[in-house]
Amino acid sequence: MTMKLLIGNVELANPVIAAPMAGVTDRAYRILAREAGCGLVFTEMISDQALIYGNPRTRIILEHGGEKGPLAVQVFGSNPDYMARAAEIVAGEGADIIDINMGCPTPKIVKNGEGAALMKNPELAAEIVSRVAARVKVPVTVKMRKGWDDDHVNAVELARLVEAAGAAAVTVHGRTRAQFYSGQADWDIIRRVKEAVGIPVIGNGDVRTPLDARRMLEETGCDGVMIGRASMGNPWIFSRTVHYLATGELLLEPTWEEKIRTALRHLDLLVALKGEHIGVLEMRKHAAWYLKGLRGAARLREKINQAGSVQEMKDILTGILMDAL
Ligand SMILES: Cc1cc2nc3c(=O)[nH]c(=O)nc-3n(C[C@H](O)[C@H](O)[C@H](O)COP(=O)(O)O)c2cc1C
Repeated sequence: MTMKLLIGNVELANPVIAAPMAGVTDRAYRILAREAGCGLVFTEMISDQALIYGNPRTRIILEHGGEKGPLAVQVFGSNPDYMARAAEIVAGEGADIIDINMGCPTPKIVKNGEGAALMKNPELAAEIVSRVAARVKVPVTVKMRKGWDDDHVNAVELARLVEAAGAAAVTVHGRTRAQFYSGQADWDIIRRVKEAVGIPVIGNGDVRTPLDARRMLEETGCDGVMIGRASMGNPWIFSRTVHYLATGELLLEPTWEEKIRTALRHLDLLVALKGEHIGVLEMRKHAAWYLKGLRGAARLREKINQAGSVQEMKDILTGILMDAL
């Protein structure tokens, strides 16, 4: 299969894409995902107004110094003028692609008409895309769900509208807003969107293994696969999927030694990005993901959660590494 994927004028080396995840896909995560060879990484979602008003927390979300390869920056909001201004700021910061969030199900977001709520207002959604696309030179993409709920499944219509408004690609997560993250993702909606538009379609939802990725590509005809939760504490999902799609060979899962060495690097990257206090706090959840499935993981997680400094956390991880050898 051909591995390259073109989004507007941005060429991805392969069609395996890391999903945007708030609280997860910061620069530390992205560096590891890129090293594992995924074709495109996303920032966490960023509010249009936070960008415009220069909220300091936003700066850290946007931080991408030293990262090699294309970066999609995801923005959420519902006001076309703010969204266009926010997109201009993000493009100025070096985004290669600007993605508009039309899938976030969180009540706090949808009550403002943002995220998945835009699926209930397709005209506004299309206007946002057209205003943003007119303002920036980089490709503008949209990430959406299947629909709002089972009675309002409109990904096909919305994909057509945003394509006409200038979107360069769409990602479809095969769940409705009402489902949040539960139930099984419906891949058939991805197939239907792919049949309806000419721009690249990225399929998303429940890709947990390299075999799932190939099955999604085959069953839906989509152009790329986006992997979210299965990549938490598991950047190897990207290398293993890219390799499997290119060669048909399934590489082994990483050893515990590799996992813990990568967790130690993740900790260093987080601390370099966010400082010791926040870095150590945020590493708790990542460490739990890296250690998932290890014997005694619950007890180790407890120990890790009590670590008050980088050194303490490193000592615990190194201790686990020694036991694993
Ligand atoms: C913790 C978490 C945070 C997320 N944050 C975002 C986000 O900021 N923007 C977005 O478009 N989707 C977000 N998502 C949704 C994912 O991008 C993805 O669509 C979803 O997890 C389904 O893919 P998966 O089955 O591979 O995890 C988030 C999901 C999770 C679990």
